[in-house]
Amino acid sequence: MMDIFEQVNAVIAEMEAAAPDSKAALEQFRIRYLGTKNIIKPLFAEIGKVPVERKKAFGQLVNAAKIAAETKFATLQAALETASEVETTRIDLTAPPIGLPVGSRHPVSIVMNRIVDIFRRIGYTVAEEREIEDDWHNFTAMNTPPDHPARDMQDTFYLKNSTEMLLRTHTSSVQARTMTRQKPPIRIIAPGRVYRNETISARSHCQFHQVEGLYIDENVSFADLKQTLLYFAKEMYGATKIRLRPSFFPFTEPSAEMDVYWGLKNETDHRITKGTGWLEILGCGMVDPQVLENCGIDSEKYSGFAFGMGIERQAMLQYGISDIRLLFENDTRFLKQFAAAL
Ligand code: DAH
Repeated sequence: MMDIFEQVNAVIAEMEAAAPDSKAALEQFRIRYLGTKNIIKPLFAEIGKVPVERKKAFGQLVNAAKIAAETKFATLQAALETASEVETTRIDLTAPPIGLPVGSRHPVSIVMNRIVDIFRRIGYTVAEEREIEDDWHNFTAMNTPPDHPARDMQDTFYLKNSTEMLLRTHTSSVQARTMTRQKPPIRIIAPGRVYRNETISARSHCQFHQVEGLYIDENVSFADLKQTLLYFAKEMYGATKIRLRPSFFPFTEPSAEMDVYWGLKNETDHRITKGTGWLEILGCGMVDPQVLENCGIDSEKYSGFAFGMGIERQAMLQYGISDIRLLFENDTRFLKQFAAAL
């Protein structure tokens, strides 16, 4: 028969060899070595039967077996808990990706890009310039005399304590910037933001966008202007007809306003064209020779045309937006509706 000491050692050996690797196996371990009916417990009862001279050593051995079981259990339990934490936070490489919300272009950008593209296709290059402009490029060079009402503080935002620096009131300032820097032929399309000291309402805003066009070369005529604008109206609106009405701008002579034939297909057409079928789109004209001279271009040799249009109005027409303020509020519920647009 196995010596009682050997019995304890066998239990210790067996306990130390055990390697529970799951919660269920660890529970079995606990029941076997630490539970109410554990296999170490009966060994304590043996202490009384051991001869006196060996009693102490046997007691210590059984006690050591119990402590060893407790220590091993605590270590295994801690290890399994960390393992299960790792398990739950592990990255599942097969999971479908979380979709990132994709933004949409602003309706003003959509319309501006379309206009720019239409002119790029016929050889115009994009010119972008400063929004803080000096009086000369915005007004003087563009033939706008000092007593012109546009120069009034009521209409123009001047920089603090300045009568010289202002927020450009139109993209026509890009004409002056380009012509003083570049020799003809010049063929530019200039999109950008402009500012006017206006009361904000459903129809007007103190900041908006324009696109300016300028073409300067030898022998440029009014017929070239008309043909270019007809091409634009066809591409932009699918229009079949345009008309040019005489108008006035300080920087063009003669000046005109271009209307496109929008049609009268439905009630909205009637409303926006005021029952005429025609829609006013832009201002244009032959660049005034004085403007060419102001910018250092020989007006005997060169001629050209220019045009300019507001973007917000076009975006509003295109998308049936009734209040210009919606275009500047950046309400995502409004902007999201343009996600499908180009
Ligand atoms: N600058 C004008 C405005 O802000 C628009 C304009 C009209 C531009 C005629 C032009 C032009 O280049 O020829 O109302």
